Amino acid sequence: MDMGDTQIIVGEDTAARILPYSPQEGINGLIRKSLEAKEFAYCPYSKFRVGAALLAHNGTIFTGCNVENACYNLGVCAERNAISKAVSEGYRTFKAIAIASDLNEQFISPCGGCRQFMREFGTHWEVFLSKPDGSYVEMTVDELLPVSFGPEDLKKKKVFTIQNGY
Ligand code: THU
Repeated sequence: MDMGDTQIIVGEDTAARILPYSPQEGINGLIRKSLEAKEFAYCPYSKFRVGAALLAHNGTIFTGCNVENACYNLGVCAERNAISKAVSEGYRTFKAIAIASDLNEQFISPCGGCRQFMREFGTHWEVFLSKPDGSYVEMTVDELLPVSFGPEDLKKKKVFTIQNGY
């Protein structure tokens, strides 16, 4: 993916797609913003900090962190927070999202719910799974959630049409 000054190299295997951090803008700038967003994580229950930085079509970046709640099931993930912020400001076309956590030996893997949330806005945009040192793996939404269900499916032909009043 070309983001101006940075070109991602996409190889056959995942290992070839792990790239180091360098403090330039472009993808690394997006990852830096996700690392910064992680600092705001409100996670007194899990103590698991997550940050996200979402790049919209026109270059605008929306950040998000996880926000937990004493009523545990109300907690919101970082990715969903960033996407909701963007959508609530009129943005629906996204180029990429970077995700950061404190996991040292593993690239953060977005939860299934967040994958579905991303998929709502298309299958062919980039997800950067990072480590605290800024290194990352690049995957598409489609790779993270293959054979997915999306808004287009709701419009497809069905065996019968349910009338009003169902
Ligand atoms: N979390 C995220 O924010 N994003 C993910 O993709 C994985 C999980 C948060 C939710 C919860 O606040 C904490 O991490 C532990 O699950």
